[in-house]
Formats: sequence, C-alpha cells, structure tokens
Amino acid sequence: MNGRTCVDTAPLDEILTRYPASEAALIQVLQDVHRAYHYLPCDVLVKVAEALEVPLAKVFSVGTFYKAFSLVPQGRTIVRVCTGTACHIRGADRLIEEFERELKIKPGETTADMGFTVKTVNCVGACAMAPVVIVGETYHGGAEPAKVAKYIAEKEADHEN
Ligand code: FES
Repeated sequence: MNGRTCVDTAPLDEILTRYPASEAALIQVLQDVHRAYHYLPCDVLVKVAEALEVPLAKVFSVGTFYKAFSLVPQGRTIVRVCTGTACHIRGADRLIEEFERELKIKPGETTADMGFTVKTVNCVGACAMAPVVIVGETYHGGAEPAKVAKYIAEKEADHEN
C-alpha cells in the first residue's frame, strides 16, 4: 500500500461512470478495471473502494479470490500452456520451451514490453485437442512448437491495432 505508483486513472474514471456507487457493482467494476489495466493496480483499488463505498479489505478480498484477477502487472496477452496429463504426454514441455525461446521469459514472467505473460495451467478441459495453448482468448488445439512464433505474431498484430 506504500510507495504509490503513477497509474493513469482516466480509464477508472470512465469505468465508474457506467455503474452505480454500490457494492453490488464491485465485481463488474473489477472486471472492467482488469480489462483496462491488465491487472488490479493498488491505487486503483483504493479509488474503487472509495467510489463504491466498500471497505478496502472487501475490495482486496474479491481481487485476490478470483483467479482471473492479478494484483501484479501482466502482459496485454496472457499465454496459458496446459500442462495437464494429456497435454504433458503430447509435448507441453516442448511448447513451453518454445515460448521461452521466442519471448525470452520463463512461465510466470512477463516480457519487458508488457506484451505477454506466460503461465502454465492445469487441464483446461480440452484434452481431445491436446496439447492445448491458449493465447489471449484463442485456443490452439494440437499446438505445435513450430507454430509458436505464429501464435505470438498473431497477437502482436492485435496489440498494434
Ligand atoms: S490436459 Fe490439457 S486440456 Fe486436458
């Protein structure tokens, strides 16, 4: 909570205009904040608590409860490499290695330009398509290491738009 960061609050101000100042809007506001900032900045959570008149502890408890939320900065695109059993058997490790090579980061890390965060995840329920990589919202079944550069390039093109 100390060491305030300089976060642009304009996106938050715009988000808050869409909702009533009520605890009932908390999750939706946090979803929109996460979409706008790609994480939940501490300063922004303080302002959300004030605006919705919700105790800060409650805001943080919601922000830490849902796996979809991150309290640390993340890349614009999250890459999720499934390492469940089916995907592991079908070469998830080679996919991880290729993402490491292409993006020069390890799972759990974010590229210096904040473009990508790579994570490993447990079974995402698409074992028939193993191995599975999810890049942003896009599922790639039968993912191949040789196509990793293409998966990344597709998203980089989105980042520029
Ligand atoms: S193990 Fe990867 S989708 Fe099930």
